[in-house]
Amino acid sequence: MGLCSSLLLLYMVLVCFVNDVLSGRTSSFTRSEWPSTDIPLDNEAFVVPDGYNAPQQVHITQGDYDGKAVIISWVTESEPGTSEVWYGAVEHEFEHKAEGKNTNYTFYNYKSGYIHHCLVDGLEYNTKYYYRIGTGATAREFWFQTPPEIDPDAPYIFGIIGDLGQTFNSLSTLEHYMQTGGQTVLFVGDLSYADRYEYNDGVRWDSWGRLIEKSAAYQPWIWTAGNHDIDFRPDLGEVSTFKPYMHRFATPYVASQSSSPLWYAVRRASAHIIVLSSYSPFVKYTPQWFWLRGELKQVNREKTPWLIVLMHVPMYNSNEAHYMEGEAMRAVFESWFVHYKVDIVFAGHVHAYERSYRVSNINYNITSGNRYPVPDKSAPVYITVGDGGNQEGLAERFSKLQPDYSAYREASYGHSTLELKNRTHALYHWNRNDDGKHVPTDHIIFHNQYWASNRRRRSLKKHRKFPGHASLIAKYEELFPVLV
Ligand SMILES: [Fe+2]
Repeated sequence: MGLCSSLLLLYMVLVCFVNDVLSGRTSSFTRSEWPSTDIPLDNEAFVVPDGYNAPQQVHITQGDYDGKAVIISWVTESEPGTSEVWYGAVEHEFEHKAEGKNTNYTFYNYKSGYIHHCLVDGLEYNTKYYYRIGTGATAREFWFQTPPEIDPDAPYIFGIIGDLGQTFNSLSTLEHYMQTGGQTVLFVGDLSYADRYEYNDGVRWDSWGRLIEKSAAYQPWIWTAGNHDIDFRPDLGEVSTFKPYMHRFATPYVASQSSSPLWYAVRRASAHIIVLSSYSPFVKYTPQWFWLRGELKQVNREKTPWLIVLMHVPMYNSNEAHYMEGEAMRAVFESWFVHYKVDIVFAGHVHAYERSYRVSNINYNITSGNRYPVPDKSAPVYITVGDGGNQEGLAERFSKLQPDYSAYREASYGHSTLELKNRTHALYHWNRNDDGKHVPTDHIIFHNQYWASNRRRRSLKKHRKFPGHASLIAKYEELFPVLV
């Protein structure tokens, strides 16, 4: 081959490579299988368990910092009953008892049932626990699995769901997620959309609690608050924000020294998960700002290599819906995310799917002239998964030109899964709800941000010391072309 043809070949290979790496993809596929209307209240998806005052809307969340506790929550409609949880590691033998508390609230003309929260702590790692709530003939039994001990190579599967609501599309998303083997849900805000009803009808908070029970009673859902969870209605005399949300969904915020249930952190397996509130003050010197600054300093990537942030409003979003709404928080927190090498920031709010490349815009200030986000190896990947399926429908209008930072975007319903394999690699899928089937659509391999830039990591990699490392890389790099 002559020099000219060799150069031409090299040029073509480079062009292909650059196109592959730098240009994003806007999928023309949009999918809304069912109408964007809520499931009727008498549908079996919202079935009320049989019997007087039977516990309903059962859900659990992590109860401490490291995963040795759960908070079990449920509602009894007619009377408080008991807030006890009986539990144990042997089925039908509930040798331990934990005592919880109950609360209730009114919202204009709605009066909630009795909402129980019970902390069950001192659990063993990696153990299946069975639990029973309620009394007599209407007692109900469930189970959950505790996570592995905090360890940099502990494998774990998270699901990511946002803006779920309660339509048949929502149900489809939930059921598809339940087929994935996901062990914990990272929920990025906007739960029931009860605020779309007259007087923010609390009945739709109750139906949502029953909708998600088939997953949330058996595995933790890590809660993030969204705008549809604010329930601020001064015209109805309802001025305390997040009232139904905070009564119903407990979070272990005290364990991470947070002053509010709306922002907190948990560690689980090999992940450190930070939850932020887009609708609470976050500028410099606010409680959330102080807390996040302290929490980021505490992250130990030697123990929890995967640093994940959840928030409702995306910082990078090229959809016309909610365009630039995350800009204020980006201006405050983005430089920290880059400094601490956050792996992924998950958000919701925009009812579509979008994934960014690793970019930052931290050099911008009003005089720098640096106006555009630029590739930045230390930056997180930003993923918007506000496509759970609520009654507001899809956000189908992306900006005409896909910005350079945007890698993939599609206006369809779905959810994501993140499989942490060890300290260096994770597999990520976005799964579209496609004609009632679960279709993995956008999939990539994540290279851990801490271990990927760490000299010791590189020498360890050379010696193939991580569990399954060599075979895993070979297998998945074959299957998934995109590595970030
Ligand atoms: Fe939202």
